[in-house]
Amino acid sequence: MKNKLIIAGNWKMNKTPNECRILAKEIISSLNGIMGIHVIFSPPFTGLNEIETSNPFFKAAQNCYFEQSGAFTGEVSIEMIKSCDATHVIIGHSERRMLFNEDNYTINQKILAVKKNGLIPIFCIGESLEDRNNGSTEKKISDQIEKGLIGIDSLEGLVVAYEPVWAIGTGVAASPKEIEDIHKFIHNVLKNIDKKHYTQVLYGGSVKPENSEELIRVPGVDGFLIGGASLNVDSFVSIAKAMEKYRSN
Ligand code: PGA
Repeated sequence: MKNKLIIAGNWKMNKTPNECRILAKEIISSLNGIMGIHVIFSPPFTGLNEIETSNPFFKAAQNCYFEQSGAFTGEVSIEMIKSCDATHVIIGHSERRMLFNEDNYTINQKILAVKKNGLIPIFCIGESLEDRNNGSTEKKISDQIEKGLIGIDSLEGLVVAYEPVWAIGTGVAASPKEIEDIHKFIHNVLKNIDKKHYTQVLYGGSVKPENSEELIRVPGVDGFLIGGASLNVDSFVSIAKAMEKYRSN
């Protein structure tokens, strides 16, 4: 049986502050009393302060900057995120890598800074369709992990999210077998960095109520990072309940 499972909703650039407050409130009241699962809401920065959480509900920022303060127009510091009572920060999402040119070096700086400030990075990795077709999935993933975690010896307080780029927002999730194989590989790469701590590895990419029951059973999957299906109360709650059911069996 798995220890603990995480369901994280990445709302991306959706929902006004007021809509964030309502969505989180409705989800929290529907999941009142949920056992064995941590539920993380990741609204846009402007929504963080609107959401009130207490264990097992948490808040994550979708990004941060690694400097403490200063002349960095448009950026948000970890201290600012902390002051909104967020506990986690998503780092290196493929949309940040592709649309905003974040490279492994920047991602590494951010992970170091988030850990140093006592928050938990949700470190996203994943191959493109081109990588997969070239047979370079494992190389890409190990490269992202090793470069993203330079200077980090202890993986305590780190969560990894495997999100194949070709499965994000496409409606087509990776197959259970594909997920099992790559999660096994990821766990091994992480073990080479830190043997002592088990790192939770989430799967992300077109997770929805229809596939969540099957995907949560996949060995090596410790939860989900969910985009589209996290924007709707019923679909997010139904995935969380499927996880709880699995967890209690
Ligand atoms: P999706 O997005 O669930 O809409 O595929 C996942 C993500 O980008 O984190």
